[in-house]
Amino acid sequence: MKYSYCGLSGLQLPVISLGLWHNFGFNDNFDEAKKMICYAFEKGVTHFDLANNYGPPPGSSETNFGKILKENLDSHRDEIIISSKAGHLMWPGPYGDGSSRKNLMASINQSLKRTGLEYFDIFYSHRYDGVTPVEETMQALIDIVKQGKALYIGISKYPPEEAKQAMSFLRKQHVPCLIFQDKYSMLHRKPEEEIFDIVEKEQTGFIGFSPLAQGLLSDKYLNEIPPTSRAANPDGFLKREEVTQKIVSIVRQLNIIANERQQSLAQMALAWVLRRDVVTSVIVGTSSIEQLQNNLKTIDNISFNDNELKRIDSILEGAAQ
Ligand SMILES: NC(=O)c1ccc[n+]([C@@H]2O[C@H](COP(=O)([O-])OP(=O)(O)OC[C@H]3O[C@@H](n4cnc5c(N)ncnc54)[C@H](OP(=O)(O)O)[C@@H]3O)[C@@H](O)[C@H]2O)c1
Repeated sequence: MKYSYCGLSGLQLPVISLGLWHNFGFNDNFDEAKKMICYAFEKGVTHFDLANNYGPPPGSSETNFGKILKENLDSHRDEIIISSKAGHLMWPGPYGDGSSRKNLMASINQSLKRTGLEYFDIFYSHRYDGVTPVEETMQALIDIVKQGKALYIGISKYPPEEAKQAMSFLRKQHVPCLIFQDKYSMLHRKPEEEIFDIVEKEQTGFIGFSPLAQGLLSDKYLNEIPPTSRAANPDGFLKREEVTQKIVSIVRQLNIIANERQQSLAQMALAWVLRRDVVTSVIVGTSSIEQLQNNLKTIDNISFNDNELKRIDSILEGAAQ
């Protein structure tokens, strides 16, 4: 595994991190989840990404992760970076959602209890809710660090203006933003517009989520929607109607380049995200040990020549139209 520093901090993350949004809840195969987490750690994936609401049901990924950690990796806690987040709907009423101090403080206590951890390595505000003052949310994150419940803090999916405001507030309070987490893949290039400039200027880390566009950027949808895929799973966030003819045609063209590079399309998609220096790590999701094995081979070839990048850009321009 390769490791990369999070901006100006002293913390290194593996360039490939494992996310537990899907496939690790009570509705999923526990034995496979255990195998994936243990295999990942064995291969140097030292970073696992959670959130309070991951499951389904919400909370169950944290519970399962805590159990797997305790039963298999307990003595390795100091070798592992565990992140969690609060900000999306988690419990009923006005305090179970959003970015208020009340929600974050209650949520981290619940997440610590579910996982059985003494602290998280990174705790995120999962989103800007459009109402709560950025200062209120950031002060809650600072206090979480001061209470010893998290070592570092980050923000996820903040719009550019609010991201700048948050990073500046945190810097002035001497608890800098460690990392910005945002969706980034060949099919979603929005961070290139403004967020990368902000991250570079603030010298924080950047971690990209859904680098495979939830599986679209793999060879799985080239011919059909397989019954075991996320798009076919009623619990899956990817909907059947998102697997459009246009996307399939783009993915087929990308697959030709991946074949020429002698790597799988998933590997090329992960390498493409990692081609930018501003990207510290990608958080990949996997539903089987075979997918994880395939994805980890990405690091054997993460460089692109100019011609490959130009061809990929021109295929992706078709996606944007
Ligand atoms: N901050 C946020 O708001 C936010 C939002 C979303 C995600 N995240 C984080 O990012 C993580 C990753 O998100 P994601 O699961 O959407 O990532 P992704 O890597 O884009 O998609 C993962 C899915 O792609 C398929 N896949 C993976 N490797 C494959 C391979 N080699 N061949 C074929 N199919 C493959 C699997 O789906 P199948 O089930 O079809 O096999 C897998 O579950 C999450 O777990 C979470 O930690 C954060």
